Amino acid sequence: MTPPNRSHGKTRVTPTLKPRALMQDTPDYAHVWQAHIITLFPELFPGVLGASLTGRALQEGRWQLHAHDLRSFGLTKHRNVDDTPAGGGAGMVLRADVVGPAIEAVQARAQGRWPILYMSPRGRRFDQAMARDLSTCAGVTMLCGRFEGVDERVIEHYGITEVSLGDFVMTGGELAAQAMIDATVRLLPGVLGNADSTVEESHSAGLLEHPQYTKPAEWNGREIPPVLMSGNHAEIEKWRREMSHQLTRDRRPDLWARHEAGKDG
Ligand SMILES: C[S@@+](CC[C@H](N)C(=O)[O-])C[C@H]1O[C@@H](n2cnc3c(N)ncnc32)[C@H](O)[C@@H]1O
Repeated sequence: MTPPNRSHGKTRVTPTLKPRALMQDTPDYAHVWQAHIITLFPELFPGVLGASLTGRALQEGRWQLHAHDLRSFGLTKHRNVDDTPAGGGAGMVLRADVVGPAIEAVQARAQGRWPILYMSPRGRRFDQAMARDLSTCAGVTMLCGRFEGVDERVIEHYGITEVSLGDFVMTGGELAAQAMIDATVRLLPGVLGNADSTVEESHSAGLLEHPQYTKPAEWNGREIPPVLMSGNHAEIEKWRREMSHQLTRDRRPDLWARHEAGKDG
């Protein structure tokens, strides 16, 4: 079956275009979730986002991706983007007078309709609730750092929110941006075939998901738990709920404590 075309005014996005081609200077279509990335490595996009469900949704025009080359805002004929840290120390820092104009160029398109996030190990740890919030915005602008990061004045001046992928340090923000966009785009209407799968999965209700099994019924001497083969939907539900509780209690006492506290509130 041929996938449906989605029309956005004059321009029609068709599934014949590759995700990378869809990123070339496309205008922002109204009512389509927008991801604007400011990066020194625009060629790293769409990356994983061009594959599978997120890639198909991009081709179908359910969301748009724009990777802006920070280098094009660089200074002098060498397009310099960084300089040594004030006060001394190792590495280089992305200059405010380079990052600032890049943010302004992108935010002129955003017109205040969505937040600016700076990918940063110092930031609030990204989670499912943030993905859900982002999916209800009109889009997002993500600033990917490199080297020692970005001049602090940029973060203060534009009221940028720092968001972390986890308690570790990567060489750049691009992987973090792709991870956060992936988690967000799959929550947009129509991206996942089966909407129920976002309701039941890990973190959607503050719990970890129950184990999953599929054919064959027996593998390497291990059988699928008999209740899942019973056809008794009430019992299957009960088993899944118990397993979800048990896994969360064992692996994530922090989540379990929050879950239990929520029952009282
Ligand atoms: C080498 S890191 C800079 C680390 C910074 N000097 C610090 O200690 O907080 C370079 C860039 O990678 C990105 N990055 C690294 N780790 C990250 C994480 N855990 N989450 C999100 N972005 C990260 C950020 O954009 C950061 O500016």
